[in-house]
Amino acid sequence: MKLLFIGDIMGAPGREIVKEYLPLLKRKFQPAFIVANGENSAHGRGITEKIAKELFDAGVHAITLGNHAWDNKEIFDYIDSEPRLIRPANFPEGAPGKGITYIKQPEGELAVINLQGRAFLPPLDCPFNVADRLVEQARKRTKLIFVDFHAEATSEKQALAWYLDGRISALVGTHTHVQTGDERLLAQGTGYLSDVGMCGPMDGILGMEREAVIKKFLTQLPVRFEVATGPAQLNAVLITLDKNTGQTRKLERIRIDANHPFME
Ligand SMILES: [Fe+2]
Ligand SMILES: [Fe+2]
Repeated sequence: MKLLFIGDIMGAPGREIVKEYLPLLKRKFQPAFIVANGENSAHGRGITEKIAKELFDAGVHAITLGNHAWDNKEIFDYIDSEPRLIRPANFPEGAPGKGITYIKQPEGELAVINLQGRAFLPPLDCPFNVADRLVEQARKRTKLIFVDFHAEATSEKQALAWYLDGRISALVGTHTHVQTGDERLLAQGTGYLSDVGMCGPMDGILGMEREAVIKKFLTQLPVRFEVATGPAQLNAVLITLDKNTGQTRKLERIRIDANHPFME
């Protein structure tokens, strides 16, 4: 049983490459579950109701978010009416939306949990404590539990993965927009990858126009970043799950771009 997770979708170029390749990925891998991080899907800043619906229509079963969750005000109301759209669970009490959702398929049920790190990011509630609570809740319903940990530091990502090893099926990182090559199974069968990488313009800087980012580094002046143009890349991960144990059997990185063409 397979789960396809798609990394941070960055603006229109990210949405377009996902819509282009998702049918091919579905045909090739037949994933039971498809989850995508949509925190940058609206021009790099948050998500809108229209874009969320577009992604659901394209076949995504659940959308996770991150530190850009609240960049579009309209999401404040929409997120409470759409259980398939979740935000990091460790936002303080009172934030709209939820940090856990369930995808029910004939093959089984997958719990999807979204958490955000605190190293080099705002000081949210403790992701470890919140994970304890949500994983316990999810395990009453299913052994298949997936965590998108939206975080900057690889140390924090490894720490949470090892902390949850054996209690969840897999934890993958998002937020850095750069795919790491450290996929592995931990000792108790939890699948792990520090960062899935993003879907968006490959010649920008993390998907944003290079000139503005370089200017920011050179001058430290406030600069408005825009999503870059040009050829895009798609970064994702395919996780093969064992339905009986809830463990990961195999975790494979997917990368599609000009240098890594998709093989049918
Ligand atoms: Fe992002
Ligand atoms: Fe982020």
